[in-house]
Amino acid sequence: DELEGAFKDNTKAVIIETLGNPNSEVVDIEAIAKIAHAHKVPLIVDNTFATPYLVRPIEYGADIVVHSATKFIGGHGTSVGGVIIDSGKFDWIAADKHRWLIDPNPSYHGLSFAKDVGAAAYITYIRAILLRDTGATLSPVHAFVFLQGLETLSLRVERHVENALKVAEFLNNHPQVEKVNHPSVTEDESQKELYKKYYPNGGGSIFTFEIKGGAKEAQAFIDKLKIFSLLANVADVKSLAIHPASTTHSEDSEEELAIQGIKPNTIRLSIGTEHIDDIIADLSQAFS
Ligand SMILES: Cc1ncc(COP(=O)(O)O)c(C=O)c1O
Repeated sequence: DELEGAFKDNTKAVIIETLGNPNSEVVDIEAIAKIAHAHKVPLIVDNTFATPYLVRPIEYGADIVVHSATKFIGGHGTSVGGVIIDSGKFDWIAADKHRWLIDPNPSYHGLSFAKDVGAAAYITYIRAILLRDTGATLSPVHAFVFLQGLETLSLRVERHVENALKVAEFLNNHPQVEKVNHPSVTEDESQKELYKKYYPNGGGSIFTFEIKGGAKEAQAFIDKLKIFSLLANVADVKSLAIHPASTTHSEDSEEELAIQGIKPNTIRLSIGTEHIDDIIADLSQAFS
């Protein structure tokens, strides 16, 4: 209902993340795709946090999928880049909401991307127009890093998930933890259902927990961590921790923080691929 009420005449697309940042909420891709299509707009899914190894949004009706390759695809937080995947399934002409794809383009001798390029209209427009005009070209060494990263993506994500599920459980049973925001330990029935449907192999190595106390206790906990690095990155092979309210989300008002479920005692973790015993030992000593 909330999404239905948000559409306006000039709405061009619906954009969602497969797992919310920072609280790892699971999104119903299939249901949202149906609503977007009923309003004649494409569904764009940012699949950075789930990765194509865990979730393939086009199979659930997404039209375009984007990834920050800076995260799991690279895997080591060393390179900045992104990926856009066009399913080729959205009918831009029937929707008639994106005239820049339909109208003759004077810089390509009057070519209409939607009519003349067909299924690859959107991605061709991005390459032929946006890439040309903005020069946003990946450096060769970063392209190499990402291609090499893809070769170990499945191995890494398997370990990220295995570790994350154990950490979520550990924190959920810890007396100094107020709440863990992870779909594997949620009490929300609809989140449980969605997690079962979209993540049969588990998921969500970036999530938050609320430590007992306030910002002071959260920051002190992070300062005590030895294996976890205090970094705004996510999805590196090394484990990371940050205090969202005073860093990544510090520009948000109190109301905006509340809407996103970010409290003064919220700590975001990005669980890496180290040995789980070392990760748990580090978290344990930071509570002491
Ligand atoms: C889910 C998600 N999508 C996109 C981005 C943007 O990524 P980049 O820094 O590679 O442009 C981020 C960055 O934090 C992210 O977390």
